[in-house]
Amino acid sequence: MTLPWNPAQYLKFAGSRTRAASELLARVPLEAPPAVVDLGCGPGNSTALLAARWPGARITGVDSSPEMLAAAREAMPGIAWIQGDVASWTPDAPVDLLFANAVLHWLPDHEALLPRLMGCLAPGGVLAVQMPMNGDSPAHRRLRELAGPAGDSGGWRPPLAPEAYYRILAPHASSVDVWETEYQQVMTGLDDIVEWAKGAALLPHLRGLGAEEAEALLARVREGLAGLYAPQPDGKVLFPFKRLFFVATRA
Ligand SMILES: C[S@@+](CC[C@H](N)C(=O)[O-])C[C@H]1O[C@@H](n2cnc3c(N)ncnc32)[C@H](O)[C@@H]1O
Repeated sequence: MTLPWNPAQYLKFAGSRTRAASELLARVPLEAPPAVVDLGCGPGNSTALLAARWPGARITGVDSSPEMLAAAREAMPGIAWIQGDVASWTPDAPVDLLFANAVLHWLPDHEALLPRLMGCLAPGGVLAVQMPMNGDSPAHRRLRELAGPAGDSGGWRPPLAPEAYYRILAPHASSVDVWETEYQQVMTGLDDIVEWAKGAALLPHLRGLGAEEAEALLARVREGLAGLYAPQPDGKVLFPFKRLFFVATRA
């Protein structure tokens, strides 16, 4: 059973979610790549950035969720949208950019996955990745206490340490750029943090629940957040959110 991705729920926070994609893209050192792939393209928000930077490129979006792909296809009919699993999907010919914003933390075994992806690049091609590193935040810890572990049923995993990614990528790359950013996301209140988590991190916990059970879980999570994030004088809440980025150029 696949996760119940909901494009509208995910895009409620399109600005914050796409900002990381935009900052990742800014570090991609390619002038005019002919073939570009957006892995885990979701509803196409990250793909739109790629199309805007390289209007002449052949762009492909790959995602396992039919719901996300349907939204992407509707937004941008000119792109090749493919349903596939990043764990096994391989391009027909080597490509110049594999862009993976907010997807690889849903996949296991990065020690094997990343060398395989590097092998899908043409010489000089780039693998650009961003993953949330927020598993240790108060909200995510509380969420796991209340919702239980996602288990191996499609849950996201915390990324490895930055130096582990350097170690995995360096043998395949002429350069590896790794960095972290902590965003201070301004939320209108604690309900917004629940809405944010409903778009992605809570999906493995919501899968298979009926409407009433889901509402009960969301209410518990909302109550559990009380006191974790102090309101600012204007009533808003700062929701710190850490992300890990890397850009590797194939030797
Ligand atoms: C958080 S969204 C990211 C969307 C977009 N890339 C962005 O920058 O906002 C994660 C996407 O990864 C997809 N995904 C998760 N695991 C996948 C897998 N193994 N293969 C392909 N897509 C996957 C989900 O269906 C979802 O659309």
